[in-house]
Parts: sequence; C-alpha cells; structure tokens
Amino acid sequence: MVDLDEAARATLRANDRGDYTVPNGRVYPFQWNWDSAFVALGFDTWARDRAWAEIETLFRAQWADGFVPHIVFWQDDPGYFPGPSVWATGRDPVTSGITQPPVAASVVRTLWVRAESAGEGDSFRPRLEALLPRLLAWHRWFARNRDPEQRGIVVALHPWETGRDNSPEWDAPGEAIDVSQVGEYTRRDTSHLDAKMRPTKLEYDRYLALVQFGRARGWDHAEIAAANPFRVADVGMSMILLRANRDLLALAEMLGREAEADELRALVAIAEAGIGWLWDEERRTWCSRDLLTGRHSGFVTSASFLSFYAGLRDAQKDAAMLAHFARIAAKVRFTVPSLDPDDPGFQMIRYWRGPVWAVVNYMIGTGLAEAGHAGEAGRVRSDTRAMMDQTGFFEAYSPIDGLGSGGDDFSWTAAIWLAWARSAT
Ligand code: GLC
Repeated sequence: MVDLDEAARATLRANDRGDYTVPNGRVYPFQWNWDSAFVALGFDTWARDRAWAEIETLFRAQWADGFVPHIVFWQDDPGYFPGPSVWATGRDPVTSGITQPPVAASVVRTLWVRAESAGEGDSFRPRLEALLPRLLAWHRWFARNRDPEQRGIVVALHPWETGRDNSPEWDAPGEAIDVSQVGEYTRRDTSHLDAKMRPTKLEYDRYLALVQFGRARGWDHAEIAAANPFRVADVGMSMILLRANRDLLALAEMLGREAEADELRALVAIAEAGIGWLWDEERRTWCSRDLLTGRHSGFVTSASFLSFYAGLRDAQKDAAMLAHFARIAAKVRFTVPSLDPDDPGFQMIRYWRGPVWAVVNYMIGTGLAEAGHAGEAGRVRSDTRAMMDQTGFFEAYSPIDGLGSGGDDFSWTAAIWLAWARSAT
C-alpha cells in the first residue's frame, strides 16, 4: 500500500508539467479536460494548492462563450495526432474545438469540502469564488448549445466529447458520417500502442471527418450543432452534467449566490423532468440516444450505471440497473466493464468495448454508495483496488484478468488510487 501510494505520487509528478498534468507523456502529451479534473482529486491528497491549480489552468483555456475545450495544447508535441494545426481553432492558447464530460464542478466541490475540513477554507474561498462563475458559464454553454429540446441532456457532436471514444453506442449513429473526403493522414496512437486495443481505421476516419466539419464552420458551436452529421444524446455526459449542476448548486448556496442558485435549481429541475428520455424501456437500461433517428443505443455500458451518481432515484429503474449489475458482476472478475460482457461486441482489451476505467468506477461506486447500495459500491471499489494492486496504473484494465490496456503510468488512474481506491470505505 505504502509502495503504491508512492508510485501513484511518482506517476503524477512525472506527468506534471508545472500547472497542468498530461494523461500520459507518450500517448497524450497535452492537457485533457476531464483527466485534469480527476487528477486534481489525486493531487489534493498531498498537494492542495497544486490540485486547485490544475483546474484553474484548464479554465484559463475557456472560450468567451463559456465553452471549455477537451484538449489544451499548451505546447506542441509531434507525438499526437490530430494536433493543433488540424484543429485550427485559432485560439490562444491553442485548443481543440470540442468539449468533454463536465465533471469539474463536482471535483471542485470535493476539493472545497476537503479544504474546509482541513481548516483551510479561508485561504481557498477566494479561489472557489473565482471558479464558480466559470463553471456556471460552461454549464450554461451546455444548456444553450447541446440541449435543443430542454430535456436536461447533453448532445455530443463527436465521440471524443463523451470521453468514451469508441463505445459501440456511436456505431449506428456514426454511419451517417461521410468519410469519403477525409484524405490521407498518419495516426500516432497506433505507433505507441497495439492496434488491437485502439479504434479501427473506419472509426478514426469518422473522428477526422467530424473535426473537418467543425473546422470548416470556424468552430461556430451553434452552427455546428444545427447541422452536424453526428448528434447523440450521451448518457454519460448527461448524468455527469446533472450531478455537476447539483454540486455547483450546493456551492452557490454555500457562497450565498442566490441568483446563480436559482438558475442551477432550474437546470436540475429540467433534467429531472426530461432525462427519462434516455431510459430504454425495451432493454430496461439507461443508454445514449441518437437525436437524428430517435433510436436508443440499447447498450448496457459502464455509463448506464451513472444514474446513481446523477442522484436519480426511481425504484423500478434502479432495480433494473442493479439486476444488470448483478448479472455482469457474476460474469467478470473486475467490475465495471465498459460494455456488457453478454453483448456479442464485447472485447476485453479494445477501447471502450470491454475494459474497465478507474475514473468511471469512481463515479459509479460513489453514486451506488450514496444511493445506499453498499454491497455493489464495495465491490466496485475493491475491484478497482485489486486491479491496480495487481497491474499498476494503466489507462484501463481487462475485466476478465485485470491486465492493463492502453498506456501505463496513467495520471487519472494514479489519482483515483490516491483519492478513492486505496481505502476500503
Ligand atoms: C482517451 C479516452 C478519453 C481521455 C483521453 C486522455 O481519448 O477515451 O476519455 O480523456 O484518452 O486520457
């Protein structure tokens, strides 16, 4: 345990670039949005000031309209494709033109609670006061640009926005993307990692076609949202945003920001009334839904279990999700696989089609515990601990044998060890 604690801190130190952290020095050499949020939880276990700086750096890249990019290219690095010149967003700092799951507000709430209970509330309060309007501006950006019917959901315009890059949830909606004009390009991910673990050529063509689509529209988010060939209400981002709005509301109330609190209460109410649109009654699961066809994906993925983290409480839906959990948990050694192992497309090492991600487990385990499902919560947490104990801090893990998938020395995995997985409760 002591060794793993030190190893986790060493991983974060090695990937620390001063005031932000790269997910992994070789495969992902820039600042990633939701990675940084989770990384802050890890730093917070021994370097509180550095934890807050991680989030503050991310928000220095926020656009004037509230948008927070999925990658910030603080410095160029030839080891990653598509780099800044492909995105061509024309921003300073240079960023990508798409976003990622808005987990930052929930993380900031945790950082705040910890600072306060350590008796450091006074010194961190000004930093919280400065972050709150920025977080709220991002949440407003989602409501304005990504929720056309006011259902309290998040429409993703690129699979990378979901953070679950090549989940099978994007296969059918992705068929609408024209890849005939993508042209030649050289991938860099497959020069660092085994291609068996990574997305296919067709998936990559689709990713690039969508980047080209946005670039051709000058990254005008309203224009892209109205015409993009890929528009999928992502169950993961939707649940995470609902949770984040609740956490931001708690912070606004604590700071006595009445107008902001009212606004956040309204956003939460909209989601509570509308998010049921993502419930697939036929498969009895939460899942993503294609905005263009209205079709549910029908897949049980790790993101399906984020309903607990979102604070949704519905006896029948919860019972159905717990039944899925029991079925899956009986089948794999390590919960929670990114895809149902009973699905024919399940692959234990291919990205988001089977492997377990520690950060997703952290959210699922937290939500299950809060909802009073202690047995399931405990299983998720002890599985997470056991995978890391056995294999170290990989990007993801096979749910069957716990072997590492993707990059090693991974920042957010090390952070989740320190902040959550290492202890039993
Ligand atoms: C992959 C993951 C994404 C993550 C990024 C950096 O693209 O799918 O969720 O943010 O790597 O770790």
